[in-house]
Order: sequence, then C-alpha cells, then structure tokens
Amino acid sequence: MKLRRACLLLTLLFTSGCDGVQNALNPAGPQAGRIAGLSWFMLITMSAIYIIVVGALLFALYRSRRREPNLEVHDHQLARVVVVAVGATATFLVALFVLDLMTNRALNALERDDVFTIELTGRQWWWDIAYGDTTSGVYFRTANELHIPVGRTIRLRLASSDVIHSFWVPNLHGKRDLFPDHPSEIFLRADTAGVYRGQCAEFCGQQHANMALLVVAQEQAEFRSWFAQQQQPAAVPTDSLLLAGQRVFEQASCALCHTIRGTTARGTVAPDLTHFASRRELGAGVARNTKGHLGGWVLNPHALKPHVYMPATPLGPEQLEALLAYLESLR
Ligand code: CUA
Repeated sequence: MKLRRACLLLTLLFTSGCDGVQNALNPAGPQAGRIAGLSWFMLITMSAIYIIVVGALLFALYRSRRREPNLEVHDHQLARVVVVAVGATATFLVALFVLDLMTNRALNALERDDVFTIELTGRQWWWDIAYGDTTSGVYFRTANELHIPVGRTIRLRLASSDVIHSFWVPNLHGKRDLFPDHPSEIFLRADTAGVYRGQCAEFCGQQHANMALLVVAQEQAEFRSWFAQQQQPAAVPTDSLLLAGQRVFEQASCALCHTIRGTTARGTVAPDLTHFASRRELGAGVARNTKGHLGGWVLNPHALKPHVYMPATPLGPEQLEALLAYLESLR
C-alpha cells in the first residue's frame, strides 16, 4: 500500500495526464503499462541499492575516523564480504535481464486476430498516414494525426521515404525505427481514449525535433464517424470566397506538392490536405492549427520551421485571405 502511494506521489510530481502530452509513466495501453511497470521497478530497486551503498560508505568513513583499535579486518572476512557483494550484484543484474526479456515478450504478445492496419511513413519532417481496407478498397491519406479505435489491436506498417526515423508514442508503446527500403510493423493498443503526443526519436535532420505526431484514440463509434468523414473528398465550395481560395490553391505552387481529393491538386510529396482543418496542429506539431499560424506558415514556413522543404508562397492579401478561408473550410 505504501509502495503504491509512493508511486502515485512520484507520478503526480513528475508526470501529467494532460491531453497531447507525451508521458511514458502515464500508460494508456497494455504495452506502455508493462514498460512503465518495469521503469518503476528499476527506479525503486536501484534507488534502494544506491541508498544502501552510500549508507555503507558513510558508515565506513565514520568508523575509520574514530580509529577504533579493533578495526583491522581479517582477510577471510574481507573475502566473504567481497563474494557476497559480487554475488548479490550479479544476481540482481541477471534478474533485471530476465525481467527485461519478459517485458519484451509481453510487448509482442498482443492478440492479433482482429487487427486494424494503418500505414505510417516517416518523411523529413512529418508523418504520412494511409488508411486502407483490403475488403472494401477504401483508401485515404492524412498526416501527422493518427486516429485509432480504442480497445482494438492496431498494426502499424512502418516505412521511411528518406532517412531513418523512429516512431515513439510513450503513452502507448516503446520505440520502433522506420527504415528506408526496409518496412517493418509494430502492434499496439490504446485502452483509454485520449490524445497522445508522439515524437520522432531518431535524429533525422535539421527539423528532427519538430517531427511530432498526435495519436487520437477514440471510442469505436466516434472513430467510425471520423473514418467515414475522412474518406469523403473535400466539399465543393459554393461560396465565392472559398471558390477563389480553391483556385489559388490549384494555381499557386501548393498543388504541385499537396493533394486535396476532389480538386485538381494531386501532389504527393507533402501532406494530404483534404481534411486539413480537422487537424489540431500544422507542420507536424510546430504550431496549433489556427488561421494566424496558417497564414504565417503559407507565407513563410521557414520562420516556424527552418529548413522545411515547403517553399514560401508569396501571395497578395486578397489571395491569402481567400486561400486561408478555403483551407479553414476543409473539415
Ligand atoms: Cu524523423 Cu527524427
């Protein structure tokens, strides 16, 4: 009971359960739970060992300063202490190794009979997400915001289109690297609905730090409605301002790199923007997705994210206003 209370206190001190915050000690799924359990076990046992060792050191210093006459230690006594200490250390290290292996096995033991597959490709410096369904052939892409249904095993097919990246959503699972030309997969499950931040965990260039990912774990019904919505092409604008915005998008350089399904914009090297306004952040977590940030991002993305591959788009005030209104309408 006391141990639980100490854990809780440490959790409160060092962690937080806020939305969109990454936190390995606030697990939202079985695998992160195993990792957190192992972390706590290691922290507590190693702290105890540290206290014992430092205590023994202080005790030895204290005894030597008092220069007690019967301080001489016989060789056989010393040998016994050394043997016991080495034995205890080796036993503890082996126990940790075994626990580590057990945790690793548990991480891979997620049931796989009803998996939901999503493709996740790392790119400098954003996450390309593709939802497919082999039976119905439904297929759409989105970026930087991974929606998953709660309580279901997710198979993430991982790939990279350029350099090595690493998928890491601490509230859900450990890390897994994404290699170019070497696809791999990882299975995970969220048991608690919420928004969990992920971060590329392998240095991948100048904007590695700004390669964040939001995982939105939703109850089944909510997820189904999101999924149905995302499959739709972008709504055809009827409003003249929005129509002008769509024209700007198609005629300026935007359409060369981005796709908006339902328009002539079919670029594939940058995020699919079909339902851009439904996303919480822009630039892979560099800013909240607000009109102000978006305007700054379009005119000069390098101010927010230096070295990003998106070029600045010089637009007049009317064009910009129309474009922003259009992009904001893509829910
Ligand atoms: Cu991608 Cu670091």
